[in-house]
Amino acid sequence: MIRPLNTPIADWSGKRVWLVGASSGIGAALALRLLASGAHVVLSARRAEQLQVIAAGYPHARCVAFDVTDSQAWPLALHQTLEHLGGIDLVVMGAARYDPTHSWEIDLAQVEKSFDLNVVSMYRGLSVIVPQLLTQGSGGIAMIASISAYTGLPRALIYGATKAALNNLAQTLYFELAPRGLAVYLINPGFVKTPMTAVNDFEMPGLMTPEQAAQAIMTGFEKGRFEIRFPRGFANVLRWIARVPDRLRFALLHRLTKM
Ligand SMILES: NC(=O)c1ccc[n+]([C@@H]2O[C@H](COP(=O)([O-])OP(=O)(O)OC[C@H]3O[C@@H](n4cnc5c(N)ncnc54)[C@H](OP(=O)(O)O)[C@@H]3O)[C@@H](O)[C@H]2O)c1
Repeated sequence: MIRPLNTPIADWSGKRVWLVGASSGIGAALALRLLASGAHVVLSARRAEQLQVIAAGYPHARCVAFDVTDSQAWPLALHQTLEHLGGIDLVVMGAARYDPTHSWEIDLAQVEKSFDLNVVSMYRGLSVIVPQLLTQGSGGIAMIASISAYTGLPRALIYGATKAALNNLAQTLYFELAPRGLAVYLINPGFVKTPMTAVNDFEMPGLMTPEQAAQAIMTGFEKGRFEIRFPRGFANVLRWIARVPDRLRFALLHRLTKM
């Protein structure tokens, strides 16, 4: 049998997880799934009240509210998380924004905000988390990107590029950190019904609920995958399209998106 790229996580009880982007959508559903499985979870995002609502009733849930775009806030957030958990077995970073955009309507303020939140904030997080995990000699990092990273798609002009950056970044992280005993996961979701996709006015193929997405992510951790992509069918089709010759890919994408 082929060895999984990360050590499979079969038992979550007592596992110490820091979930950044936990106040809604996929992050909130994943937080609940982890807590129900016995993990000790620190929930982070900007909206403290929202985090408290999700954490309510779980004795092993704590909330550390902060803005991931604030570089100064990360060391303090890590410190508070370590005070609660004592160490970190897994950090999941999923804070992001999505501004559907065509190439003829570029708003530079949106571009800057998207790259700052979706990409630069990952580096902000990594700059404090990687040294911590290396000092521990254990732990894992999961970054939520998107299957829109695979190939240029209509309206994903900004978002797709930020997520493509994360796909590249995660590979470098795995290359460097796996030999040092750390796990690295790249989570590439397809369409999930959350506040983020509420702006979409088109039919979203393979649309999942946040709970289904959380289940798919848990399965990925349990199987020790590096890339956790879902829904498998749609994600695999898009991944295949991304690899066919350019002429065929553009023709297929025009046909699929009717654009
Ligand atoms: N939904 C989809 O179809 C889909 C598809 C592919 C990938 N994804 C990815 O999955 C992840 C979760 O998306 P979602 O659909 O669940 O979206 P969502 O419901 O809008 O959740 C986004 C999360 O990010 C947090 N966040 C945003 N800005 C932040 C900031 N400056 N500081 C701290 N936290 C911040 C939000 O909390 P606060 O507002 O409280 O700060 C919220 O918890 C994202 O990375 C997204 O790109 C989603």
